[in-house]
This record gives sequence, C-alpha cells and structure tokens, in this order.
Amino acid sequence: MEFYEVINKRRSIRQFEDREIPREALERILDAGLKAPSSDHQRRWELVTFTDKAAILELAKLVRPYPCRIREPKTPQQEMFQIAYPRQRTMIQESACVILPYFRQKYAFDNPKNDYGLMDYGGAWALVENLLLAATAEGLGSVVHIPVKKEPEQIKAFLKIPDGYYLPALVILGYARKDALVPAQVKATVENKVHWNKW
Ligand SMILES: Cc1cc2nc3c(=O)[nH]c(=O)nc-3n(C[C@H](O)[C@H](O)[C@H](O)COP(=O)(O)O)c2cc1C
Repeated sequence: MEFYEVINKRRSIRQFEDREIPREALERILDAGLKAPSSDHQRRWELVTFTDKAAILELAKLVRPYPCRIREPKTPQQEMFQIAYPRQRTMIQESACVILPYFRQKYAFDNPKNDYGLMDYGGAWALVENLLLAATAEGLGSVVHIPVKKEPEQIKAFLKIPDGYYLPALVILGYARKDALVPAQVKATVENKVHWNKW
C-alpha cells in the first residue's frame, strides 16, 4: 500500500473478525515499530506480544469498559465516546494480537528542571504510531487502549514486568469486522490547523 494511502486509511477499529494474523505479517509490523526514532538512540523497549487467544482473554479481564451515557451524539467526539467506551474490553477480547510496548524510563516523568522525562515516553509513542501504520499497510484494523487507574499496575503484575518499565498503550490488532463502527473524524487540515511562519 502506498504511504499516503496508509495514512488516510488508518482508523481506530474496535470490532474484529475471529481470524488469526499470519506470523510473518506480525513480524513485519513489530519490525516497523522497532525502527522508530528514540531519544538518545536508546531504544529502551521490550515488546510483549500476545497472539494466544486464552492469554488475550486473560489480559482483557484487566481492562474495564467505561459506561457511556450519551444517547444522541452531537459531535464526532461524542460519537467516538459512544462507540469506544463500552468496547474497551471487548475490543481486546475480539482481537487477534495485543502488543504491549514497554519502555524503560531514564529520567523521572515529573522533573520540573528539564522535562527530560518526556523523552522516553515520546519515543514509545513514535513506536506505537509505526505499529499502527504498519498494521494498516498489512490490511489490519488497529486501536490503542491507554492503561489508566489500576490497569498499569495490574498488567505489570500479571506479566511480572521488572521495575522501571512503563506502558504507553496497549496496541490492539485484528481484521476489522465489515460493519465495524467508526465515528466521523474531526476536521484537521492544512487550511484550518497550520500557521505558516507566524501564529
Ligand atoms: C493518546 C491517545 C490515546 C487514546 N486512547 C484510546 C483508548 O484508551 N481507547 C480507545 O478506544 N481509543 C483510544 N484512542 C484512539 C482515539 O479515540 C482515536 O484516535 C480518535 O477517536 C480518532 O479516531 P481515528 O483513530 O479513527 O482517526 C487514543 C488515541 C490516542 C492518540
């Protein structure tokens, strides 16, 4: 798939077919993730990759769906909340692969002196985006779930992750169901978002 077609095709998909992803495709996606830029060229990453359905179902138990009271969405964001909130667990259960891209944090997150704490987190997200784009190029649907509240600690305990590692997102992959719901996208264009040479 041509690069800009990949960019335009990528959408967050939260409903998947019951279908395995070939191992070679997964290895190409993982390799694309690992080619991402990283601060100080450290690549302090360890990717735990789930393809075993029983393990995926166990992992899904640690992620809670959110209630959503919106009945008649009036904005693309509300439409997204309505689709996404109740599916935070089922999108993992239905998926064929979940990648947990753990990164090791060198500097404290909250160092007010230099903000270096954002570097490793930023690199981890470059990796995540490469995974999402490569998955799209492979004809897959993808979505991220950000671990919140008790989830980071519970997932770490479940996997016995060593201290000092953090999880920016769960990267969830699978073949999109034909009728998978996607909200309208918020318009972000060169015309309405870009300032040339001055604000
Ligand atoms: C930092 C970040 C956090 C996100 N967290 C979640 C999440 O926890 N659960 C989820 O279903 N989608 C999550 N998303 C996906 C967004 O909801 C999605 O990108 C947005 O609605 C636009 O839709 P699109 O990806 O189809 O363009 C996240 C995306 C980003 C970049």
